Amino acid sequence: MDTTGPIGSQPGERASSCPQEGMPRPSDSSDLVQECLQQFKVTTTQLRQIQATLLCSMEQALKGHDSPAPSVRMLPTYVGSTPHGTEQGDFLVLELGATGASLRVLWVTLTGTKECSVEPKSQEFAIPREVMLGAGRQLFDFAARCLSEFLDAHPTENQDLKLGFNFSFPCHQTGLDRSTLISWTKGFRCSGVEGQDVVQLLREAIQRQGTYSIDVVAMVNDTVGTMMGCELGTRPCEVGLIADTGTNACYMEEARHVRALDEDRGRTCVSIEWGSFYDAEALGPVLSTFDHALDHDSLTPGAQRFEKMIGGLYLGELVRLVLVHLAQHGVLFGGCTSPALLSQGSILLEHVAEIEDPTTGTAHAHAILQDLGLSPQASDAELVKHVCAAVCTRAAQLCAAALAAVLSRLQHSREQQTLQVAVATGGRVFERHPRFRHTLKEMVMLLVPECDVSFIPSVDGGGRGVAMVTAVAARLAAHKHILEETLAPFQLDFEQLTVVQAQMREAMVRGLRGEASSLRMLPTYVRATPDGSERGDFLALDLGGTNFRVLLVRVAEGSVQITNQVYSIPESVTQGSGQQLFDHIVDCIVDFQQRHGLSGQSLPLGFTFSFPCKQLGLDQGILLNWTKGFNASDCEGQDVVYLLREAIRRKQAVELNVVAIVNDTVGTMMSCGYDDPRCEMGLIVGTGTNACYMEELRNVAGVAGDSGRMCINMEWGAFGDDGSLGLLSTCFDASVDQASINPGKQRFEKMISGMYLGEIVRHILLHLTSLGVLFRGQKTQCLQTRDIFKTKFLSVIESDSLALRQVRAILEDLGLTLTSDDALMVLEVCQAVSRRAAQLCGAGVAAVVEKIRENRGLQELSVSVGVDGTLYKLHPHFSRLVSATVRKLAPHCTVTFLQSEDGSGKGAALVTAVACRLVQRARD
Ligand code: BG6
Ligand code: GLC
Ligand code: GLC
Repeated sequence: MDTTGPIGSQPGERASSCPQEGMPRPSDSSDLVQECLQQFKVTTTQLRQIQATLLCSMEQALKGHDSPAPSVRMLPTYVGSTPHGTEQGDFLVLELGATGASLRVLWVTLTGTKECSVEPKSQEFAIPREVMLGAGRQLFDFAARCLSEFLDAHPTENQDLKLGFNFSFPCHQTGLDRSTLISWTKGFRCSGVEGQDVVQLLREAIQRQGTYSIDVVAMVNDTVGTMMGCELGTRPCEVGLIADTGTNACYMEEARHVRALDEDRGRTCVSIEWGSFYDAEALGPVLSTFDHALDHDSLTPGAQRFEKMIGGLYLGELVRLVLVHLAQHGVLFGGCTSPALLSQGSILLEHVAEIEDPTTGTAHAHAILQDLGLSPQASDAELVKHVCAAVCTRAAQLCAAALAAVLSRLQHSREQQTLQVAVATGGRVFERHPRFRHTLKEMVMLLVPECDVSFIPSVDGGGRGVAMVTAVAARLAAHKHILEETLAPFQLDFEQLTVVQAQMREAMVRGLRGEASSLRMLPTYVRATPDGSERGDFLALDLGGTNFRVLLVRVAEGSVQITNQVYSIPESVTQGSGQQLFDHIVDCIVDFQQRHGLSGQSLPLGFTFSFPCKQLGLDQGILLNWTKGFNASDCEGQDVVYLLREAIRRKQAVELNVVAIVNDTVGTMMSCGYDDPRCEMGLIVGTGTNACYMEELRNVAGVAGDSGRMCINMEWGAFGDDGSLGLLSTCFDASVDQASINPGKQRFEKMISGMYLGEIVRHILLHLTSLGVLFRGQKTQCLQTRDIFKTKFLSVIESDSLALRQVRAILEDLGLTLTSDDALMVLEVCQAVSRRAAQLCGAGVAAVVEKIRENRGLQELSVSVGVDGTLYKLHPHFSRLVSATVRKLAPHCTVTFLQSEDGSGKGAALVTAVACRLVQRARD
């Protein structure tokens, strides 16, 4: 309230002004009194209209309507549940803004049980007027000084000081500890604070002060503190109501009704900020001339109109304006005023409360009026009592209408005909004013008779409630810290990635030379990419990815036509005997031929076989070892083409001409190479991961010839199997490896590819659960089930278009019960795991393209990479992260990634076509 100049004072006015001519005659005076008091009367119909209009405004604000802007804000507070009563610990609470020009510091001990409660310690500090209206920095520095003084006076052993900031102004919260002041209300107007995060401002001030290290963990509105601190009774306390310097309420709303939140389950506490309510039709007729005068001379003209009729900061002022009016019209004090009476803010809430006291009121009225420099008669004191009663009764009735709107809203959102609810009340208007509570209750019963409401006075001004929210916030912050620590080893920096790139490069060179290396660098006998002159019909098989496929590929001039059929291979077959596996493959081919009218034809066949093979020629490949969950017996060490031919012979039903065996990386490179001759690398990031590229023959030991190039299947999934990735590998990688069918093998693949990422995530989730950070510490059966967390979930969960509630739904479908905090953590885990995978993959690609560039002695290389695999294609961010990493690690290479559209079967057919072309040419 601006007290720079008394309201109604005229320039040159004398110390005390007395009757002049033109004063009303006594007979007029009772009319004047009536007229004045009448202005404070509100009818039940008017109250009902206010209730209905406020309810409507609340509902619009919940729905996020902004045109016309609803006059209440309905601010989410990030408090999701009423207290369990089990919260524990010592907390500092700093209260600012609830009780006028004072600031309170409290030390609250929560014992976790109702039975043994500990009285809080508290200290109040008066805020100098120049601080309330000065620079924001000054206000926060003042607060930090008060905290220090309090802690000096109440020394504690506790080094880990956690603070809840009870800041009672309208704020946009985006978390328990992130809160932007929208606008000052009540008597505050500090510059540079509106639009700023007040939690941050307080943290900075505490740091500037430097005496104590205090962690500000939560910001809480006074209404919320009051609701949360409410003694647990038989019914839930789901409304917090404050009538103090200002007025406001909060209540538990169904989260799905709050548009500003991305949440569809549970309840959330919403601060209504009803102080700003205004509606010309509903509130206009109730506003008196005194309300207009008060608003006009306030710090915030036009704002907080509803609050200015109820809040303790304004009630005394309204009384004073009426008294001035009546005195100036000769009805009071013999027509005399005094400078004090004419000064804004000279009558306080305390005065009004004392005057209204049923037994001592009259005596108080005399004393207070005399203190104001007036000489009251007995009749003056009586009239002043009437004025106070009129102003306060109206305040209580208006407050009741607003509370009735909240109760109707609760009833509606709970879809209940009758509502049993407890309302926690707090604030000096309640505490000091004798009749306020009573009038409010009566009016609420009249306005919402179907609600059974019990009113529970707050015991310590909401300090305990703030401490409870702080306890929850502190627990969340501790959890966040554990999460960050857990995920830290997954965050790879540039140096670490450079080391991976260099190690990969070294392993490539050793592998090519035939020296010990985790990279086998297998020659593929593919020497050239297609030149476009290939023609004919080819069969292709594609085994080793998500799907087993049989394809018919028709290569004509300028076009390749593909017909394909997916067949399933049961796990009993992938992990059964080799004979079973190859018999199954031939059965599928026979079926395919029959379906497509190809029976009896012996088309050339290319076999995409996506496992490490030592090739001795294009049509001879010895399986070195199974990878990716395949484990059919008696195949390792055998020529796969021979095994296939044997199965054909066993069946005697088909004639097949197996021309080439091709790794999926090679198939992909060839397939993309058909359209882009610069495609000299193939990359797979799917069930497994691997790469191939065109190497200079002179660098390849074990293959005759020194000129030209040959495609090398790197089998990079095995990179690190010699222990070289040891430093990067986490305990979660180790668990996934140990539980796999090939422990110690394919270590790079197990950090990158689709078959394993979900498992890494699951192991991290298990760890976080065992620390009580996730899923309330409950290790459900589901979470302990191997492979339950498919990598495709990572792709879906990480999609930008997905709301958190959808993430939750996906996880719930898996049988996990989780809160939104849990869902957010799961998302962060997924992001960390897939980001590391993409970066490692990028480091590998960088090593390869740099080697190609150096092989050719080029300053700059422009090269394309053909890519396939479900993870690469389906994950929303994987491909972007791979290329970003490559750009950083191989700055002299311009790398274009081409996604293969038709799988590597087409590539296998093309390899076959090239081989047939070469054979044909040799024959001609
Ligand atoms: C395609 C192939 O190129 O990509 C598959 O046709 C291959 O056989 C696959 O293995 C890799 O993807 P995924 O995700 O199916 O393993
Ligand atoms: C004002 C504030 C509000 C607070 C109320 C009671 O209306 O804007 O946040 O709850 O006063 O202190
Ligand atoms: C595995 C195989 C490899 C294949 C890759 C991608 O790593 O060993 O041959 O290319 O998966 O499917």
